Amino acid sequence: MTIPFTPEQLDHLAAHYGTPLWVYDAATIRERIAQLQIFDTVRFAQKACSNIHILRLMRAQGVKVDAVSRGEILRALAAGYQGGGGHPSDIVFTADVLDPSTLATVVEHHIPVNAGSIDMLDQLGMCSPGHPVWLRINPGFGHGHSNKTNTGGEHSKHGIWHTALPAALQAITANKLQLVGLHMHIGSGVDYGHLEQVCGAMVDLVRTVHAAGHDLHAISAGGGLSIPYREGEERINPTHYFGLWDAARQHAQTIVGHALGLELEPGRFLVAESGVLLGQVRAVKDAGHNHFVLVDTGFNELMRPSMYGSWHGMHIQRPGDGILPSVRDSVVAGPLCESGDVFTQGDGGIVLPRPLGNARVGDLLVIHNTGAYGASMSSNYNSRPLAAEVLVDGEHVQLIRRRQTVEELLALELSIE
Ligand code: LLP
Repeated sequence: MTIPFTPEQLDHLAAHYGTPLWVYDAATIRERIAQLQIFDTVRFAQKACSNIHILRLMRAQGVKVDAVSRGEILRALAAGYQGGGGHPSDIVFTADVLDPSTLATVVEHHIPVNAGSIDMLDQLGMCSPGHPVWLRINPGFGHGHSNKTNTGGEHSKHGIWHTALPAALQAITANKLQLVGLHMHIGSGVDYGHLEQVCGAMVDLVRTVHAAGHDLHAISAGGGLSIPYREGEERINPTHYFGLWDAARQHAQTIVGHALGLELEPGRFLVAESGVLLGQVRAVKDAGHNHFVLVDTGFNELMRPSMYGSWHGMHIQRPGDGILPSVRDSVVAGPLCESGDVFTQGDGGIVLPRPLGNARVGDLLVIHNTGAYGASMSSNYNSRPLAAEVLVDGEHVQLIRRRQTVEELLALELSIE
């Protein structure tokens, strides 16, 4: 599997910035954006990678942005995205709940709210009549690469249940809110099989909105486009994907009698393949049949294998010698005091040794396809500071987040003594 960096480049970055280190490639992100620009609006789900410099790159390419917290709204604003008020907002706030400070922020910046509950409509209407809203609908079914990323069906907390759409429309009228559009995101890691069902459900919902005497201006297909994490896995074809949604849009247009915008809200597709996580081998040891390679990065950085049993390609390289041939079944594990801190594992935490280079202390571990849901899901578990992030743009290398220090962590507590 190819990554957008040479071993020499990664040797140099690790030596210069230290490890653990997140590295992103700007050209890959631009390429993915270009593939999706057939949609009227591409809205980046920044939860996948919310670094302000990545958001600036998105903005420079004409990509709009989604925010799911007050923090993500402030990140978008810091990256130069505009709220609304006199002009269409670049930002949409998507959530199932509104807390008071987030409510104040969306009102202050006139940011449209994509409501996942009727309570949100009531709370918003009370303090901001006329506010633009989207309705996020749970169509009654969902799909995802794991149960934890399936966001539809009756076990999902997300969205307004499809049969509650008329009640949501009544809440919009009662609260004098302004309906922008309908939104559906049924999960992350979607396959084509479900798409026709999703598109059909959207058309039905548009019919309900029209029949209730409401108008709307756009529909959103949500995100969820998968990427091939493993060799041979299918890559979503953006043109095919667009074709299915465009047909749904056209059908919906005949119902409402005017043009409708078509939005897409991808996270993973835009950034996953742009990134790698670099760690350094700090110990190797054997336990029974297993050979362990222990590195200085763990699930405090990349949570996906521990959380979902996700598979990430990886390789070992030796500074100056390049990638080592995969000759030895190895279990790759991190430094955390927890047995689940293993990168080579499957669903349910089963350890899956992987053929890798015969590693020794000082070698680099390169974990592939970590641009999405990598740094943005990191934690300070075991009091480990957040790792640095670097953006490579051709010859230009930019540190886009400096490494957190332990002193900064402690200061949060010591400063209130
Ligand atoms: N829109 C909404 C409303 C979402 O909830 C999400 C993802 C997206 C868009 C973007 O989905 P994407 O295009 O990236 O699949 N941490 C998990 C993924 C969780 C996704 C949560 N919502 C992972 O590492 O796979």
